[in-house]
Amino acid sequence: MEITTIHKIQKEVEGLDAIDVIRYIEQQFGEQAVFSTSFGIEDQVLTHFIAESGSQAKIFTLETGRLFPETYYVWNRTLEKYKLSIKAYYPDTVAVEKMVTEKGPSSFYESVENRKECCYIRKIEPLHRAIQGFKVWITGIRAEQSANREDMHMVEWDEVNQIIKIHPIFHWSLTEVDNFLRKNFVPYNPLHDKGFPSIGCQPCTRAVQAGDDFRAGRWWWEDKSKKECGLHITK
Ligand code: ADX
Ligand code: SF4
Repeated sequence: MEITTIHKIQKEVEGLDAIDVIRYIEQQFGEQAVFSTSFGIEDQVLTHFIAESGSQAKIFTLETGRLFPETYYVWNRTLEKYKLSIKAYYPDTVAVEKMVTEKGPSSFYESVENRKECCYIRKIEPLHRAIQGFKVWITGIRAEQSANREDMHMVEWDEVNQIIKIHPIFHWSLTEVDNFLRKNFVPYNPLHDKGFPSIGCQPCTRAVQAGDDFRAGRWWWEDKSKKECGLHITK
């Protein structure tokens, strides 16, 4: 991808409201855009926009097999409210069976290497299948979520996955997200009201204390610098 193309898109979307970013993606890319949802609060805002605007962007979720019961609850409520199709991607059965048989069901606590292996099998490999053939990948990432994410941009070229990534609510604050959900009666994960600002797999996510980073409850036993599962490593 020409870096000038990325800069052009960046210029065209910078300053637009999130809903207009979704409309822009629709005009420029139509069915060639795909949106990944983990049913977190940010993703719920985007699902709402996609449904309201009639966007043709395809929606998928990575069903790792280790999600919270509350995540299935909000998944159901989202389907009921928006009548959208959300494609579920599961890990490769043979790979999960081998890992769990050889290392047990909680190998991720034992080493960073094991944790990365589990994330690769349950998220990264299915992600490759999910975004295959699309030109744009929409996510719910916000700059405020971590120091690492502050260095990202609303529009990026993902060299690893060879796809344009766009984060339409990149500049939103948590308060803006919360207000939007309440004002528009958007279904959200009940764990958000119990101290979980960021929700991933159940064994790897816990509540945070007041004043902690948004992502402090993710892989909490690991060093801060390692706290990305690899979904959003672009270089
Ligand atoms: S992660 O890399 O730590 O897991 P995070 O939970 O912050 O990511 O979510 C950031 C974005 O990644 C979400 O807005 C969503 O687009 C995507 N994402 C994360 N987890 C999933 C999932 N299980 N299924 C689909 N998309 C996901
Ligand atoms: Fe496995 Fe935890 Fe990664 Fe989920 S977050 S894929 S359970 S290591």
